[in-house]
Amino acid sequence: MSASESFLMEQRHRPRQCEAGRGAWGRGWWALVVLLCALAFPAVWSPAAVRAAEVPNAVPPEGSYDGKHVPQPIEFPHDVHVKVNQINCMYCHTYARRSPVAGIPPTSKCMGCHSVIATDKPRIKKLVEYWEKNQPPPWKKVHDVPDFVHFTHEKHLRRFVFNNPGMDVADVKEVCAFCHGQVAEMTVARKVKPLNMGFCVRCHEANDGPHDCWKCHK
Ligand code: HEC
Ligand code: HEC
Ligand code: HEC
Ligand code: HEC
Ligand code: HEC
Repeated sequence: MSASESFLMEQRHRPRQCEAGRGAWGRGWWALVVLLCALAFPAVWSPAAVRAAEVPNAVPPEGSYDGKHVPQPIEFPHDVHVKVNQINCMYCHTYARRSPVAGIPPTSKCMGCHSVIATDKPRIKKLVEYWEKNQPPPWKKVHDVPDFVHFTHEKHLRRFVFNNPGMDVADVKEVCAFCHGQVAEMTVARKVKPLNMGFCVRCHEANDGPHDCWKCHK
């Protein structure tokens, strides 16, 4: 794993630090520990810890879409990986920061963990079967804009994440959420934003994006 990848995978330990030492303390002391932790780490108890992190210097796009369930060869649970295990979106979708496409991770990346993790689970057995046959699972597309539309992940991530003062890369999923919704909560990826011309153009207007037709239609 490269340095930048392990950086992306860094977990945020704050709430867990508060739980340390639980066993050594009595019940009465425990209440005091909770109080002290709360005072020491406001993020643990403030409403900000509960609601989604906000993206500074951005007007979020409006609109929602009720996309149908897309059957996948293996139901890939984003929630387990992102929410429970705190893996950064860009650890798997590595191209997003530097190219038009975000990319779907190769099975070798999955196997880095699943050669040892959850190997008894049916879905992981299926993954191992594809791996041993040297075949990528035939993932179905969930988002697909028409070919006459020009879209690029790179420019959006540069504007809203990497060149955005005050934005923490660990919160990148809030920027992905502009166009993909809260994938971190999904048991299976689903289209929940319209991604039509009105949606794109309104967001460009609200955030000083380009409005020439040819920027999106080449
Ligand atoms: C452990 C690897 C991994 C992580 C971490 C991960 N993804 Fe994915 N993602 C996948 C795989 C595998 C697929 C293909 C299966 C599917 O579409 O359900 C996928 C599919 C998607 C799709 C649908 C692609 C399409 O076909 O249109 C989106 C959007 C997406 N991911 C966004 C995210 C976002 C946003 C995050 C962070 C909140 C994230 N992913 C984190 C592995 C990952
Ligand atoms: C950084 C480690 C890591 C990577 C990389 C990773 N996973 Fe996982 N995955 C986990 C962990 C941890 C769990 C939860 C295991 C458990 O609940 O016992 C999990 C659970 C799963 C499950 C649910 C298993 C079940 O039935 O409970 C599936 C399916 C899965 N992963 C598929 C994938 C695929 C496909 C990839 C590659 C795109 C991938 N994972 C990459 C760590 C990883
Ligand atoms: C400004 C809107 C926007 C943002 C922000 C955005 N996406 Fe996308 N994403 C799209 C569009 C539009 C498509 C469909 C592209 C196509 O059909 O060619 C897409 C497609 C994808 C796909 C399908 C495969 C591919 O490579 O095209 C994945 C995976 C994905 N996005 C992940 C992410 C992740 C992860 C993030 C955050 C790091 C993110 N996206 C941020 C609009 C966005
Ligand atoms: C969250 C708001 C937002 C959404 C949603 C959004 N964009 Fe953008 N987009 C921007 C901003 C801001 C820029 C300018 C980035 C910069 O300053 O480099 C941009 C830049 C672009 C560029 C680069 C133009 C160039 O200079 O080469 C393209 C292409 C583009 N957007 C297409 C789209 C398409 C297509 C969609 C809808 C699928 C979309 N955008 C959705 C905010 C958005
Ligand atoms: C910010 C990106 C963006 C800009 C700027 C933009 N478009 Fe579009 N346009 C799109 C997207 C995305 C679609 C695909 C709509 C869909 O899939 O429903 C689209 C679709 C279209 C279509 C196909 C018919 C339709 O409505 O689906 C036409 C025609 C069109 N655009 C013309 C224009 C013209 C003319 C301009 C300049 C006035 C323009 N577009 C500017 C993103 C853009």
